[in-house]
Amino acid sequence: KEGMNAQDIGKLLHREPAEIVKKLFMLGVMTNQNQSLDKDTIELLAADYGIDAKEKVHEDISDIDKLYNKRMAASKKSKNQVKRPPVVTIMGHVDHGKTTLLDRLRHTHVSVHEAGGITQKIGAYQVHLDKHLITFLDTPGHAAFSNMRERGAEITDIVVLVVAADDGVMPQTVEAIDHARSAKVPIIVAINKIDVPGANPKHVTEQLMKYNLIPEKYGGDTIFVNISAKTGENVEDLLQMILLQADVMELKADPKQAAIGTVIEARLSRGRGPVTDVLVQQGTLHDGDPIVVGDRFGKVRVMTNDRGHQVEKATPSMPVEITGLNDVPESADKLVVFNDEKTARNVGEQRAQQALQKSRENVQHVTLDNLFDTM
Ligand code: GTP
Ligand code: MG
Repeated sequence: KEGMNAQDIGKLLHREPAEIVKKLFMLGVMTNQNQSLDKDTIELLAADYGIDAKEKVHEDISDIDKLYNKRMAASKKSKNQVKRPPVVTIMGHVDHGKTTLLDRLRHTHVSVHEAGGITQKIGAYQVHLDKHLITFLDTPGHAAFSNMRERGAEITDIVVLVVAADDGVMPQTVEAIDHARSAKVPIIVAINKIDVPGANPKHVTEQLMKYNLIPEKYGGDTIFVNISAKTGENVEDLLQMILLQADVMELKADPKQAAIGTVIEARLSRGRGPVTDVLVQQGTLHDGDPIVVGDRFGKVRVMTNDRGHQVEKATPSMPVEITGLNDVPESADKLVVFNDEKTARNVGEQRAQQALQKSRENVQHVTLDNLFDTM
């Protein structure tokens, strides 16, 4: 942009200002770091760096969704890609045993502490099997999954569909199948409660086949596992099958690039300020990293893993809880790491401003509409 100086350009191109000054000198332009430059000089410089100056200027760094998508795309082409753990969402009808299954996997007993036994919030945990990891997201019903998708967040790799063997296919079972299909996420069927007297997993399998979930033994390609979340029977087999499915999908990430992630949930803690659960998707998130999360900004102050232990870094598919944002973000917001705190702050403030403006416009719209209605 016209009027920028060597310092501004250095920041934009991630170069030392001194290098820019030197480069300009080589191009026959005498300047210092603070002297503003005219358009022709900037274009000359940009061309020398192999950048279309106009394009660069028009690129809005406050568009963090775009930045996120760019980094996601870049990682797919990266030579540094390594295998990453699958991210699994458990879905199914009310009371079919989603929370019990997750508890069993974590060897804890969350569901007995839950008010009324209903899942209250989304949690994310990692489970070990041999040397492999699996990340689980707990969703209360299907609202979280849909909300995430509506907001453009696609963080689930695999859906485990829990169907109680004593209850069979129910409305939310069908809803879950539809959700997974429209998100193009493969489904693994876990027929649960096989310990219950009168449980009929075979009947449930037949019911599910009507929805085009066909087990391999009937010529289909859907993985079915009969389990008891309560006794733990075959639960390890289910984990094995998840890893098998993940292998087929060749899930990878580049842990070396600047991190991106998605907010699972966030809240305000009286003692710690805004607390955000985020799933790291690409790159590695470090303690102290300057970040923008949705319309919020800050830097990673304290980062803890799913067991409540403080960690210094988080690799792809790892869920962590972080503090250090200026305000509470929303679930499904994107997290993007920036080079320096100042840029993160600028971007965050700009985004908050834009959001405020938008909400004002919306309010005006509503009032105008209402006005017409009453006329
Ligand atoms: P919502 O969160 O309300 O949708 O339910 P949920 O799918 O998380 O079900 P939850 O895990 O809370 O289980 C519902 C009831 O079924 C609880 O009383 C569990 O103890 C019971 N249950 C879950 N899995 C099994 C199982 O494998 N066998 C038996 N016998 N009971 C189970
Ligand atoms: Mg539950």
